[in-house]
This record gives sequence, C-alpha cells and structure tokens, in this order.
Amino acid sequence: MRSPRTTAAAVAAAAVVALFGLVFAFRAADAPRKLPPAPPAARDDPTPPRPTLPPSSTAAGASTPRYDEKVQYKPTPLPDRVILTWKGDPARSQAVTWRTDTTVKAAIAQVAVAGGGPGFEPGWRGYDAKKVSKIAARTERLKSAINEALYHSVNFEGLTPKTRYVYRVGDGSNWSEWFQFETASDKPDDFGFIYFGDAQNGIRSLWSRVARGAYSDMPKAKFIVHAGDLVDSGGSDTQWGEWHAAAGWINGMVPSVPTPGNHEYGGKVTPHWRAQFTLPENGPPGQEEYCYYFDYQGVRVISLHSNEKLTEQAKWVEAVLADNPCRWTVVTFHHPIYSPVAGRDNKAVREAWRAVFDRAPKTVDLVLQGHDHTYARSSLMREDNTLSGTQLQTERGTVYVVSVSGAKLYSAADRTWMVRKGSGLQLYQLIRVSGDRLSYESKGASGDLYDAFELSKRDDGGNDLIEREMSLPPESEGGPEPPPAAAAVAGGDRGVRDPCAVIAAAAILALVALAVGWAVRGR
Ligand SMILES: [Fe+2]
Repeated sequence: MRSPRTTAAAVAAAAVVALFGLVFAFRAADAPRKLPPAPPAARDDPTPPRPTLPPSSTAAGASTPRYDEKVQYKPTPLPDRVILTWKGDPARSQAVTWRTDTTVKAAIAQVAVAGGGPGFEPGWRGYDAKKVSKIAARTERLKSAINEALYHSVNFEGLTPKTRYVYRVGDGSNWSEWFQFETASDKPDDFGFIYFGDAQNGIRSLWSRVARGAYSDMPKAKFIVHAGDLVDSGGSDTQWGEWHAAAGWINGMVPSVPTPGNHEYGGKVTPHWRAQFTLPENGPPGQEEYCYYFDYQGVRVISLHSNEKLTEQAKWVEAVLADNPCRWTVVTFHHPIYSPVAGRDNKAVREAWRAVFDRAPKTVDLVLQGHDHTYARSSLMREDNTLSGTQLQTERGTVYVVSVSGAKLYSAADRTWMVRKGSGLQLYQLIRVSGDRLSYESKGASGDLYDAFELSKRDDGGNDLIEREMSLPPESEGGPEPPPAAAAVAGGDRGVRDPCAVIAAAAILALVALAVGWAVRGR
C-alpha cells in the first residue's frame, strides 16, 4: 500500500504532465496547418476546378435554385448571338450570323446606308423602302446538349467602300435592333483592331470585363482577333451563350476574326464553329472557315488552324505570303511557335510554319497566339533567334506574342526570347496601323498599360522596333501563386484543428484520469 504522500506526488506529477500535454496539443492544433505541396504545373492545357460557391441564401436560410441553363440559353424567335464576320472583301461585303429557335419560318436581313435619322424602318420619318435591301438568309440547324436552334447567315455584298450601313436581322415579325457597321476602305488607310488570347474560362463572369474594356478603349476598332479557345468546351452551348453574352452587342457592331483552338477541337472542329461564324472559305480544302485570309486597308490578316493539317497549311500560307499586296502582315493561330510556359512546346507547329514566315517575300510583322494562359512578347525574331546588332538594320524579323484574356492563368517561365512576360493578368491588346507605323499596346483588364512597342516599316520591308514605357510593373501583379487564403479562412483566425494534435490531447487526458483513479483507489 502506498503512503498518502506518495499518492499525492503521483497525482501532482500526472497533473503537470497533463498540463504540458494539453498546452502542446492545443498549440499544435491552433498553428496554421502546413499545406501539402502544390501539384506540378499542368502541361496539357487543363482546366483547373472552378471554385464552388455556396448557393445564395435568403435571411431565412432558404437557398435559391440555380437558374436552369436550358432556360437561360434557350433560343427564341427573337434573334440572338448576332455576330459580324467577313466571308469576302471587307471593303465591299459584310457577313452576319444569328440564332433563333426552330419555330422561325423565315430568316432575312435588311441593310441600308446609314443616315442620321430612322428612315430605314417602316413607319418612321423619312422612310424610303427603296433604300433598304432585303436578303434571305442561309439557315442551318444545330442540336446541342441543351437545345436545338437555327443559325442563319447573310453575306451583304456589293457594298460601297468606307461607308456606314445599318442592318437588322429577323423573320419579318421578330427583329433584332438596328446595328451599324462601316465597310473598309479599298485602299491602305489608318485603323485599329483588338486582339484577345484565350477567353475560355470564367467567360461571362470575368472575361466580359476584358471584352468591354477593350471596346471602351478602342470603340472604333475595325475587327477583333480571337486567337483560339474562345470557350473551354467547344460543344457547350452554355459556354457559347456566355461568350456571346459577354461581348453582347459589340459583336453586332465590330466584326470578329476567330481562329480555332484545341478547346474548339476534338478530332474535328466543333459544329458550333461553322454554324455561328461566317468566315472566308479561301483556305486549303477541308480548312474552310478555320484557315483563311483577308486584306483590310493595307494589312493582310491570316488565320491558321494549328490543331491539324500543318503541312497542307504551310504550302497554302506560303502562297498567300508570296502573293501579298499589303504593306503589313499579321498572322494568328492558337498554339504558339515559342511557348512561354515550362514543359509546353509546339515543335510541330514551329517546324511547319516558322521557316515559311521567315522566307516570305514580305515580312510577317506580327504573329498573335494564345494557348499558354500567360503573356509573352518577343523582339524581332528570325530563324529561332532574336535579331541583334547589325542584323536589326539588315534583316527582317517577326514579333511573336502570346496573350490571354480569360481567367485561367499559368506562370510564364524565363526564356531568352522574351522582351516582356507576365503571369496572373487578363489582358487585351490594341493594335493601330498608320502608314509605315504599327503601334501595339497590351493592357491589363483594369486598363493599365502592360506592354507597348512600335514597328516602323523600312524601305526594304523590314521593321525597326521601338520599345515604349509602360505603367504596370515589369513582372506582373500575378507574381507567386495565390496565397492559400481559402484554407486559412476556413478555420477562422485560429486556423484549422489538426486531428493528430486533438487525438494526442485526448490520450494524455485519459492517462491522467487513469493515474488519478489508481491513486485514489490506493488510499
Ligand atoms: Fe489551348
């Protein structure tokens, strides 16, 4: 039998041990949890999981059901997704495409030279039916996972260069509003255009700001280049609905120049593409409306389809570049010749097309690309090298750009060819051509200038490149990966409880209880 003194000492010792154990356990529990290492950088253009938001709640706690996508993007007899593109010469034609439901019995477009008054619509002052042309549309049916719709297209032809027109589309009873556009001049003339990298993710919620910001910055833009991956799932009518909604009526006023990305492609380009874009069919056989070119006021614009048939397109583009009357040449396609992201490379595209660009009798001035969800811009390049020293005065080089406009953002690696790079920014580009000068600006979604340079055309067709100052910091606001704010916030400011620490505390408490019980029984 133990003496009372021995028992008291045992209880005191057990209590001290328990106290230390508890303090240790709760300190460990309150310490922020060490997060697991970040997963390796994705290599094949994956889409990160979207953050899931809790359903909105009323004060009483009842949640609102999510608005059904089938209802949200349901076509109606009223035209929607109205979008201008070109099928032919921008100086003398203009194509428009729109969507309706399948109840529509007729599809027509009306077009008239724009006046200051409303005299192109019956019933309004100054109306003159003779001044309004009516053109029947070509219609195709498209069934998606959530609906069936009719896509109608009209190509206005025989237009006068450098002239403003109004148009509307409908079925004779249900009409769109009147939109306005301007035909190109048939001669070289000053103008500007917008270029977007991948929209693809967060289209309605986050890309809309970029699309509208670009338009606000350049409301007289003559067209908008989309360098592929306009949506994440090319077959998703919901995502196309988001894309059309994000730019809204801008698409009915400023022609789009889209090129297909890998997210519009799954062995073949999504049927949504040709249904909703009316584009030139002057590419190689099988590449109609994917690979094409047009000339706009002294600039030859070429879209290549980088998902397939690279060799066929190399031969085609070689001929298009050889017979080029324009002073400036801009090429766009999706997969970059030089990738700015670690572990990503498009060797096949580079091997098929880069030398064709270098050999062209007239300089390929700009190559506008997407796919890598970062920003990167080269200086003048030729044969995989950046021109330097006397080469800058004597050789003709090309500026390669990768940009991104949507919300999925990767990190740019360090590459010697990059003059400017950036991660974590949604960007839009404004490009202006004026005689022998081409000025280029890239801006963040906030409107702050991120990159800028000018090309000055030399007599030999090559360019001098002049770098300009910019207002955003040299790297980007992206910097390191975002802090693990979600995990820290999840447990409040005391951090997340570590289950191991809690178990340890419980075990120590149990030991103390056993020791006390044993001591009391021993009295
Ligand atoms: Fe892509």
